[in-house]
Amino acid sequence: MAPFEMMCIECGKVHDMTRPAYACSSCGNLLEVSVDIPSAQERLSDGEWRGRPLSVWKYRELLPVGPGTKVFSRNEGGTPLLKCDRLGKHLHLKDLWVKFDGMNPTGSFKDRGMTVGITTAKELGMTMVTCASTGNTSASLAAYAGLAGLKCVVLIPEGKVALGKLAQAMMHGAKVVSVKGNFDQALDMVMRASDSLGMYVLNSVNPFRVEGQKTAAYEVCDQLGGAAPDMLYIPVGNGGNSAAYWKGFREYESLGLADSHPKIMGVQAAGAAPVAAMFSDGLDTLVPVAKPDTVATAIRIGNPANWKKTVRALRDSGGSCLTVTDDEILRAQRLMAELEGIFAEPAGAAAVAGLAKDIESGTVDRSSRIVCVSTGHGLKDPDVAVANSEKPVAVEASVDALRKIVEGL
Ligand code: F0G
Repeated sequence: MAPFEMMCIECGKVHDMTRPAYACSSCGNLLEVSVDIPSAQERLSDGEWRGRPLSVWKYRELLPVGPGTKVFSRNEGGTPLLKCDRLGKHLHLKDLWVKFDGMNPTGSFKDRGMTVGITTAKELGMTMVTCASTGNTSASLAAYAGLAGLKCVVLIPEGKVALGKLAQAMMHGAKVVSVKGNFDQALDMVMRASDSLGMYVLNSVNPFRVEGQKTAAYEVCDQLGGAAPDMLYIPVGNGGNSAAYWKGFREYESLGLADSHPKIMGVQAAGAAPVAAMFSDGLDTLVPVAKPDTVATAIRIGNPANWKKTVRALRDSGGSCLTVTDDEILRAQRLMAELEGIFAEPAGAAAVAGLAKDIESGTVDRSSRIVCVSTGHGLKDPDVAVANSEKPVAVEASVDALRKIVEGL
């Protein structure tokens, strides 16, 4: 096998990596980049990589980017894995961690995929990139397209993108197209139009983007001293990131760099939960949700393009997928902010909400080592934060007025 091959997840057909492709030309299923483990071990054998700073490109030998390729980077990855003792105490857990991927350059995990995706777009000679997005992908794509000098067109669902994300896409110079429909409809437009319009698609159906995102799992193992956690809770929207984490954990284990892998627990918002329904109802195929809705607009997705990859990832890892209500998401967001100083956007609090729910139902071993992935920064969505917080108290400019407030605390 070549060091890297792009193949169909269903029929195994190998595809030419030097051309844009998002689906198998024979059976239409998703593609993924397969890493040849023995040759990867060979490339890593001098151990030089271990001394590099924690980041996506620390793991360059495990990414499908040639040694001479110019990389477009803003130092993505290397995000903190935070031990959360106060939140752990609240949930009666001993060993709880949050991987805060909101600390990436544009405030979400998307940058991990975008640095690899945009580097690939340039390698392929593309001049225009595109995506459909609930917000974060468009913010990240716009930033990296600007960095690489590529034209960028992003499609977003009208009125359903958090303010900070919209500001980012606009500021970084993308052509922002507001679609009168939801994310699923926008993604369908992108997939149907991209070839004829000469646009390279950087949604998570792009196998190179997933490669960048898998580095988060390598980082978690490295940050835990070369060991995988027992469980990993992660929000599921379009299903790319959960599949990317699983790919990363599996590869790290195959490479002999960790001796186990975690159960991956997907978390969906109750109003947008077609993957969770497959688990609860024992279904073999996805039944899309026609009108998805949730306060966590990032994961307001009814027809996840990567459902096959994510369902396999969750099942193969021994994990599952559960739902949380909007109230549970907002409660977890506040707990993370108040107890741990971690300000996550609502989707970035869904994993903690899911964990809290599983703790309550008694399905979690309280001594396990658990990592919750917080995927996006809270500053992305100021409207939700302000609407759900106590309003500032207005006072006259006097010490007496202040004393009354402070004494009432
Ligand atoms: N968390 C955040 C903050 C997200 O922005 C997304 C997806 C997810 C979780 C879910 O990840 O789709 O790989 O399962 N946001 C996409 C976007 C859809 O357009 O920004 P997934």
